[in-house]
Amino acid sequence: MGQNVITVAQQKGGAGKTTVAAHLAVALSQRGFRVGVIDVDPQGSLTHWHRIREERFGEGYTGLQFASVSGWRVGSEVSRMKRSCDFIIIDSPPHVETEARTAIRQGNLLLVPVQPSPTDLWATQATLQLSKSENIPARIILNRVNSKSKIVEMIEKELTGALTKTRLGNRVIYAAALMEGRGVTEVEPTSPAALEIKSLVKEVMAFFPKEQEADAREMEMA
Ligand SMILES: Nc1ncnc2c1ncn2[C@@H]1O[C@H](COP(=O)(O)OP(=O)(O)O)[C@@H](O)[C@H]1O
Ligand SMILES: [Mg+2]
Repeated sequence: MGQNVITVAQQKGGAGKTTVAAHLAVALSQRGFRVGVIDVDPQGSLTHWHRIREERFGEGYTGLQFASVSGWRVGSEVSRMKRSCDFIIIDSPPHVETEARTAIRQGNLLLVPVQPSPTDLWATQATLQLSKSENIPARIILNRVNSKSKIVEMIEKELTGALTKTRLGNRVIYAAALMEGRGVTEVEPTSPAALEIKSLVKEVMAFFPKEQEADAREMEMA
């Protein structure tokens, strides 16, 4: 298995970084991957979520390895987790500051949630520039999209090639599941939200072809 590090970053707060990180982590873990999650955001939303998860499932039984660290420690935490994880997901703070830069530098893939609004779009440029200067491939995931709007069309035109095929709708279950320390794929595995996250998992796995092969082998054996 490879050692795949996905950083979720976006300069703008409230774009959906923590949402994407948590649901993706759970869904990857449900597929049988060993998943590590690192919260680099001092606000600690993901840490809070994981604490609720521990209360629900029991300490050590969340299906995830978890660490909350400050930016300067993220490198050593990633190295540590690489020994026992197939995927590591980093949730980063909402500014293109040293902490976010350090987090981005650790990743093999940068996932950038963007809501269809001008301010989100403008904020994205800084994050994309950072990915370019650090030479880390980036994919933008449209979040809270409900229907095809003018702004979605504009974003598609402006960011072609960099967008994931998966989009996340504006769905209450994304927030509700987090409140329970869970992911949408656990709460309602066949809900539209869960299907969106499963589609994101597929895209992420296709990005890391080694994982896809391993997954296919497991399926054959099963
Ligand atoms: N696709 C979505 N549907 C509904 N609510 C969402 C969605 N994505 C994010 N939210 C909500 O928006 C708020 C900000 O999301 P969050 O993931 O915390 O953003 P960030 O980590 O980028 O600051 C949260 O209250 C979250 O529940
Ligand atoms: Mg957050």
